[in-house]
Amino acid sequence: MNFEPTETHRMIRETARKFAQEKLAPGSMERDEREEFPSAALKELGSLGFMGMMVPEQYGGIGLDTISYAIAVEEVSKVDASMGVIMSVNNSLVCFGINRYGNDDQKDRYLRDLASGMKLGAFALSEPEAGSDASNQHTLAKKMGHAYILNGTKNWITNGSTADVVLVMAATDRPKGPKGISTFIVERGTPGFTVARKERKLGIRSSDTVSLSFQDCRVPAANRIGGEGEGFTFAMKTLEGGRIGIAAQAVGIAQASLDASVKYARERRAFDRPIADLQAIQFKIAEMATGIEAARMLMFRAAALKDAGQPFGPEAAMAKLFASRIAVQSALEAIQIHGGYGYVREYLVERYLRDAKITEIYEGTSEIQRIVIARSLLK
Ligand code: CAA
Repeated sequence: MNFEPTETHRMIRETARKFAQEKLAPGSMERDEREEFPSAALKELGSLGFMGMMVPEQYGGIGLDTISYAIAVEEVSKVDASMGVIMSVNNSLVCFGINRYGNDDQKDRYLRDLASGMKLGAFALSEPEAGSDASNQHTLAKKMGHAYILNGTKNWITNGSTADVVLVMAATDRPKGPKGISTFIVERGTPGFTVARKERKLGIRSSDTVSLSFQDCRVPAANRIGGEGEGFTFAMKTLEGGRIGIAAQAVGIAQASLDASVKYARERRAFDRPIADLQAIQFKIAEMATGIEAARMLMFRAAALKDAGQPFGPEAAMAKLFASRIAVQSALEAIQIHGGYGYVREYLVERYLRDAKITEIYEGTSEIQRIVIARSLLK
């Protein structure tokens, strides 16, 4: 057991922190206010290699481990949680999904542009009636010669309207349930594929969340990832890694809440002294710091297992379950420490709370994480 980061991990943290401070912090409040997608910063993040961190160099990535990826998502999310999820979906759902389960031709055609940030990816599993109940897919993919015809609607798709490449799960044999689902790579601009609705959200407002519509959308059979019927397993396995990314996003938001609280507690005076001298504030800070450290350890543990090629699904679920709770609690405490100033937009802590909440919902709600953990213990 080694708790020391490697030289590469230190360098990744330093690079991500500098990028976030210099390129993401300016304008993050305005982007949140205007629900503006961070296009320019995203290209720069791509040029650092951070959009394809685990993609092998052979396919244009920087071939790093999951721990490096988690560190980068944490640092980016500390400053801009919207960018955190944009980056997380591209890295751990789309690039990882294609790299791990795609064939050589698919890797060759898609990974370079996705890893360099030239193109962006989205992951389309959820539907109006298939959120937590993910295998209840109503989007149909009917085989016609050398193609599939897709019909249906996808909901809550992060990066959906900006993505050039979307991994779409659809039923190729609906009566078979989870065993009748397949995954397709669908390119933007394919006739019949449109953005149906943009969501207006509580938090992560500068990320792009939309519904997608498929109407007689013809996708070449060469774009199916894996065999027919392997799509649900693909989604579940890929989401295991995605959950490490969301845990990292949550740790980043929680750390930002703590950092802001420490700074404010030192500056703000009440009863003739800084509020940092009050035990009521000190106890809050101590609880926040302990929870964040524990969440980070769970995140690293899941990432280390994944890097070692061992099963890590329940550990990733634990990391996400705990880190997302810590993010919400830390943001709430940060607001409490800031008092009235925490409730208004002058300080960033109200945004941390709005951003934190979604980490308990997407890539599997906290209830779903508990199911995954309990099943692993009781099977
Ligand atoms: N790895 C491999 N196989 C798995 C698996 C895993 N992690 N989880 C399930 N499977 C397999 C099962 O073994 C089973 O196969 P067998 O019958 O051969 O054993 C098959 O898949 C069906 O599994 P279940 O019976 O467990 O399926 P279920 O209907 O009970 O659902 C669930 C399981 C855990 C609740 C699942 O539906 C789930 O994870 N739901 C949450 C979905 C989710 O996370 N959505 C996130 C959307 S993406 C997103 O948010 C991205 C974004 O934009 C930010």
